[in-house]
Amino acid sequence: MALDLFKEKGVPLDRQVFTWKDLTRRTFSKMDDDAFTRVRVILMNGVESESVRFSHSCARMNRQLREPLAIIRRVEHFQQTLINWMNPPNQNPLETTLGFEQTAIEVTASVAQHEPDPYLAQAYRFGMLEDFDHLYRYSALYDRLTGRDPNYITQSYTDIIPGRHTAIEHRHPLDDVRRSYEARTAEPITKLNALTIVSAENQVHTYYMNIGPTFTDPVARQLYAEIAAIEEQHVTQYESLCDPDESWLEKWLLHEANEVYNYYSCLHYESNPRIKEVWQRFLDYELGHLHYVMQLFQQLEGRDPAEVLPQELPEPVAFTSHREFVRKVLNDEVGLSAKGTEFVSRAEESERTLRYRQQLNSEGSPSSIASAGYRWRPGTELAEEAERVGTLAEGRIQ
Ligand SMILES: [Fe+2]
Ligand SMILES: [Fe+2]
Ligand SMILES: [Fe+2]
Ligand SMILES: [Fe+2]
Repeated sequence: MALDLFKEKGVPLDRQVFTWKDLTRRTFSKMDDDAFTRVRVILMNGVESESVRFSHSCARMNRQLREPLAIIRRVEHFQQTLINWMNPPNQNPLETTLGFEQTAIEVTASVAQHEPDPYLAQAYRFGMLEDFDHLYRYSALYDRLTGRDPNYITQSYTDIIPGRHTAIEHRHPLDDVRRSYEARTAEPITKLNALTIVSAENQVHTYYMNIGPTFTDPVARQLYAEIAAIEEQHVTQYESLCDPDESWLEKWLLHEANEVYNYYSCLHYESNPRIKEVWQRFLDYELGHLHYVMQLFQQLEGRDPAEVLPQELPEPVAFTSHREFVRKVLNDEVGLSAKGTEFVSRAEESERTLRYRQQLNSEGSPSSIASAGYRWRPGTELAEEAERVGTLAEGRIQ
């Protein structure tokens, strides 16, 4: 049943409390839980970390909002702690990495299909094919370092084949800034989609920057450095989709609405009853945040939150395999690049991007080295099929 954002008030702030035991509860199971439980935990950790990041930026720029932001931010911090601590200790950083890329692929695929603005939908499909290639490169690294099948983590929901080759994803910064939606005319779902994806990508970037240097293997160190650079490009792309003319308070309102929307989506799909309980509890907490910020928005800006928020939440993010959609996009759009704000064929790339890429790859390409000779089995038929239809050839470095 659809959730009415104006009627549902959630849990009041003074009842949003935690204990250390509550924050460090039993984890999900790496082996027994569905891979999408891990995907949801990763996504919500990203959404909460975006809340905290945004809240700090906002507090540094808005005297009036410093105290209300501090109150809500403490709850966001504890929400993030509880969620991130549900990752099991036997899931090593490279396995978590496979989960991150699976999250990027499947959540972006869902968003791309629900996005009403064709330009933004194109931007999501574009980024998705790059994360799709990251999953392949990290799978090769996983094979190299542990000899294990990545499906141990991804549970065969997501294909493990090359996408747009990571080596050619490097673009000049000015070819990563996109056009933004127009706050006054964009659909509410458009704003939520952009926030969801920028949250996920920002977290991936932070994670790779933290764990990359902890590896001993020189190829692993280089591969994390290389893919972290693409995640930085992805954050640049996705954040530029948001209208920079929205006020700080309007952006805060949207962040709370997006947290509500994402917990609501998680709740809709969750198969683990212990974790479902967390999604329900935090959905109620976020409704409390949302109503608190709705009041501030009315008081301080004299605007009606209904100008910005939808009455009812849109259809939830689909936590399911989007294999067919991803294959189609791979087939149709692997040859795309970007020039300025526009998506163009690779033959039309800018001089500045070609120079930038050539410089970065001039002493070797980690993503090519990591996967040299890698043949994932079983499932090699997918790679062979892709080679036959030419998607692999398209993905080679020029
Ligand atoms: Fe939160
Ligand atoms: Fe990625
Ligand atoms: Fe990404
Ligand atoms: Fe919140």
